[in-house]
Amino acid sequence: MTGESHSLEGKVAVVTGAARGIGLEIAARLAEAGVRTALVDVISAAAQEAATQLLRERYAVLALTADVSSRTQVQAMVKTVMDAWGRVDILVNNAGICPLTPLDEITEEEWNRVLAVNLHGPFLCSQAVAPIMRQQRAGKIINIASSAGQMGGVAVGPHYSASKAGILGLTKSLARILAPDIQVNTVAPGPTESEMSRAFSAETTANLLRQIPLRRLGNPPDVAAAVLFLASAAADYITGQTLSVNGGLVMP
Ligand SMILES: NC(=O)c1ccc[n+]([C@@H]2O[C@H](COP(=O)([O-])OP(=O)(O)OC[C@H]3O[C@@H](n4cnc5c(N)ncnc54)[C@H](O)[C@@H]3O)[C@@H](O)[C@H]2O)c1
Repeated sequence: MTGESHSLEGKVAVVTGAARGIGLEIAARLAEAGVRTALVDVISAAAQEAATQLLRERYAVLALTADVSSRTQVQAMVKTVMDAWGRVDILVNNAGICPLTPLDEITEEEWNRVLAVNLHGPFLCSQAVAPIMRQQRAGKIINIASSAGQMGGVAVGPHYSASKAGILGLTKSLARILAPDIQVNTVAPGPTESEMSRAFSAETTANLLRQIPLRRLGNPPDVAAAVLFLASAAADYITGQTLSVNGGLVMP
């Protein structure tokens, strides 16, 4: 099989949480591969700025404002993508939040917000694109979980770990429900350089580095490479799986 047959050229992708960090890297790599890419985020200005940079490179991108935890905003976002490009081939559920609150101080409101963004959001986005992908008889959904969902977070709270563990179950469930035309997989990064991990203390980072066999944090390109693989035809026979990108921190 030639590399060309795995080309993503001409496809349409929706990437949530794409204003910065891992999501922006995923969106940029998809755009570079010829994918018409919607950068979705709650931070409108940053998403627009990122999209403007990519448009300067002559990539086909669109910045859209939506809170993934809102059904109406998600549906409006998907409608805008359909109006613009008429299809959705790839959904990357990347938007996430990770408050570093000690156990005793986690309020019910904070617990609910983390679950709403990190788990309900991917459910809502998947539910919104599923009929479109079913009609196309093709589609790839890639959920961004975390090593915290596999092993219990070293540096992060139980709400975050629970939401990411939930993603693993959501992925497997959707993979069965949406088969055989749609593939649903998880990428589970370990601690990765971004705004999120910059909030870790120096001690936490040093502690993590001691536990990572490859002796460095991940970076957004490490994660984006895994996403592009799963989005491509090279991964057509892979569904319901977790691709761990963590330097060996977790070997599930
Ligand atoms: N950085 C890490 O160490 C690490 C490790 C494992 C997994 N992850 C996961 O990778 C993903 C990306 O994280 P990152 O490190 O780039 O973090 P980040 O904070 O830099 O980026 C997250 C993006 O999601 C957006 N977002 C937050 N809430 C949203 C909402 N309700 N609707 C739409 N967009 C929203 C933010 O505005 C931001 O642009 C997250 O799901 C995160 O949990 C990160």
